[in-house]
Order: sequence, then structure tokens, then C-alpha cells
Amino acid sequence: MQLQMQTWSEVERYLESSTTAIMPIGSTEQHGPNGLIGTDAVSAEAIALAVGAAANVMVAPTIAVGMAQHHMAFKGSMTLRPATMIQVIGDYVNSLAHHGFDKFFFVNGHGGNSATIEAAFQEIYTAYSLDGGKTGGNEPSVRCRLRNWWQGEKTYKLIKELFGDKDGMHATISEVSVTQHLFPEHIKSAPDMGPPEPFKNRWSDAADYRANFPDGRIASHPYLATPEAGKKIFEAAVKEIGEEVTAYAKG
Ligand code: NI
Repeated sequence: MQLQMQTWSEVERYLESSTTAIMPIGSTEQHGPNGLIGTDAVSAEAIALAVGAAANVMVAPTIAVGMAQHHMAFKGSMTLRPATMIQVIGDYVNSLAHHGFDKFFFVNGHGGNSATIEAAFQEIYTAYSLDGGKTGGNEPSVRCRLRNWWQGEKTYKLIKELFGDKDGMHATISEVSVTQHLFPEHIKSAPDMGPPEPFKNRWSDAADYRANFPDGRIASHPYLATPEAGKKIFEAAVKEIGEEVTAYAKG
């Protein structure tokens, strides 16, 4: 169930039986020599929509630009400042909370978003904690949960079985494979990229990132991506996150 494909009265009916929303969140950033700039946003959205359809849970509009300052030395990358992103997440959540949603399950496609998403949750909770009961006294406030789509136990195990350590940390074989499955018309021919630069240090700003990882990837071999592997990973993630969302919606 996609919020943007409902009428207001359908949302009103939905809220009579469920107050859970799935919140896809990703990033718009370079993904190495053959990965799509939208990888993190389009993967999180597709997984969220499939989970929402299977579990009968409403899926909010995707937050498609995230915290990607370190990718800004590569053309096409976009970023929100962390402080902006905290406000965007807060406004998405509070808009829906205004109508009665109170459980927000974030399906995240970008590891670099995690710290900012967690900070956003704390900002949201703090507003409820400090408002002196104006939003309902002892009523529980909203609850938010973060789930990085590739980190479910079964999904992660499958990725390791398929690719081992070659999967890497950014522009991974697994995420490129998932986009190849979802968007076969946008599969890019993989240039001869050779082995990745060894991962030595965590980066700081965008220039530092590019100096350390000149073709954009981190420790990954994304020329090994295939749509067939992507289908398996996508289906595993949808199944695993679907079970988690169903339990979360009931809890
Ligand atoms: Ni990514």
C-alpha cells in the first residue's frame, strides 16, 4: 500500500485498523564505476513497497536524498546536511503522526544515513519528552525503528555466501545486483576496474574520500554483479523485513 496511491478517505480507513507506516529512506550518490546514483533510494523504495504489499502496511513517500557529503567529489551526488536531514525526517514523521500514525519502520538503503537517522529519532522523542504533556499527557509518543535492508541475519548470510568479502563496503556487489534485478534496462557494462583500493582509513570530507577511493567504490568488486543474484537478495530481504514489519505492527 503506497500512501501516494491512496485517497484521503482510504488513509482514514487504514488508520482504523493500523497505525504503522513504512518509511523508505536512501541516498542519491555515486556508486562506483557501474552502480546507479539512485541505488540506495530505489532499492530501499522497492523493498519497502514489496514489504508493504505483502504485509498490508502503508508505505510513505521515499526520502531519496540522504547524508552523502563524502560523495560530493563525484558528479551527480547530492546530500542533505545532517541538521537538515534530521528536520526532514522529523517533518515526515510528525506529518503522519498528526493523522494518527504512531509506528514508523524505516527501511534504509544507505549506511551513511544511520547515525543521522538515529539522531533524528532522538530529536523526535525529545520533542515529546519536553513538551510538558501537551501532546497527550501519559499517552505514549511515536516509535521509530531503523532497519538497514542488507543487515538482516538471513539476508546478510546470503550475501556472504554469494560474494564473501568481495562484496565490500560501498558500491557493493549485492546492491548493484539488486538494482540490476529491479531495473534491467539500466544495467551498465562493467569496465575493467581491477581490484579495489585497500581500505586504510575512514574518510573525512569529499576530497579525502575521493583521494582514498578514486573510482568511488570501497573494497568491492561490483563487476561481479548479476540480476540473478540481485533477485535472490531482494527476495530474501523482502521476506525477512516483511516478518519484522508484521511483528512490529502487532507489537
Ligand atoms: Ni549504497
